[in-house]
Amino acid sequence: MFVDDDPMVVRGLARAISTMGVKMNISVRTSAQEALQALEKEVVDVIVTDLYMPNIDGTALLNEVRSRYPAVLRFVLSGEAKPEVMMEAARLAHQYLSKPCDTAKLHQSIVETMARFSMIKMPEVAKTISQLEGVPSRQASLAEFLRLLNDNTVPLEQIATSLKKDPALSARLLKMANSPYFGHSGSIESLDDAIGLLGMDMIVSMAATHKLFSVTPPPLSSNMNLDTLWEHCVFVSTLVRQLGYKLKVPNAVSREAGTAALLHDIGKLVLAYAAPRAIAAAQTRAAADHMPGWQAEYYVLGNHHAEIGGCLLKLWGLPTSVVEAVAMHHTPHRSGEENIGPVTLVHIADALAHARNKDGATVCLDTAHLKALNLPENLDYWLELLPD
Ligand SMILES: [Fe+2]
Ligand SMILES: [Fe+2]
Repeated sequence: MFVDDDPMVVRGLARAISTMGVKMNISVRTSAQEALQALEKEVVDVIVTDLYMPNIDGTALLNEVRSRYPAVLRFVLSGEAKPEVMMEAARLAHQYLSKPCDTAKLHQSIVETMARFSMIKMPEVAKTISQLEGVPSRQASLAEFLRLLNDNTVPLEQIATSLKKDPALSARLLKMANSPYFGHSGSIESLDDAIGLLGMDMIVSMAATHKLFSVTPPPLSSNMNLDTLWEHCVFVSTLVRQLGYKLKVPNAVSREAGTAALLHDIGKLVLAYAAPRAIAAAQTRAAADHMPGWQAEYYVLGNHHAEIGGCLLKLWGLPTSVVEAVAMHHTPHRSGEENIGPVTLVHIADALAHARNKDGATVCLDTAHLKALNLPENLDYWLELLPD
């Protein structure tokens, strides 16, 4: 469903899209009221709205759709917007595209996002993915980051290093850097690039005005230990960089993999919010059958945390390479990666982290995938390559 008070623009776009590969039923509404009335009667998968419209504007419409119809994917297609309007729209929408928009790009974005979202089997999980605006930081790392920010004698590089140790803040930063507000047409895969694009001064001022923290994630109710989860992600990110160096992987690939590693288990948080009982059942099954946790999740919920994390990051507009590395970090053979890339690096580093920490997780490497890449498939080799 397209919503725009200037229907000429979207009618042309809708016509062009209807001729493309994947067929879609497209409707055009000329006001938010009309769109909301239609939503009461029709099944809608995706809404693409303009921001400036009379009476109810785009952000109000997005807010309404977000709370009443979480299964509907929310896209913004807008021209110039005031910074505060854009920031609010970027928070409420899944994807933000600017006019004039390349029809093929819009079509691809809709098709890819729908494909990931439709893979999610449990309605509660889908609802959480659709509504989640951010995930919580570790109290200790957030406190450290804020302390450094408020200390004028601390060099900016040190603040950047501290930021990279906080996966929750990093995810928010990447989400922002990949929105069109900052005028970058490509995708920003690494935190270094995100910091370079936004500029440390901008990040500091956003943090100071609380824009970086304006998202308040819901409290975690299950027995999820946030510190343990984020420490593991930061550790895997460190191992990915070491692996990349040892295996002589290009720097750009290592950086993308480092970002993906930082966020690779973010799907576990979605599960902790959406399905704490199912997660407990999966943990019991994993322990009883000595199977990896992700496999038990798959049996119990129909999806595992890697797929769920990939879907969340896709909805947040993160680049495909990061989304795929997160989604397939337990099943790298599905990636089709023919050289050592982000998926493979995160997969090996994750197994190494569990083995090093002796955390009781059943660790298994995807031997068929490693063989196909002519890489050793036994864990001992990798443990010796990266000794403590
Ligand atoms: Fe995982
Ligand atoms: Fe992990």
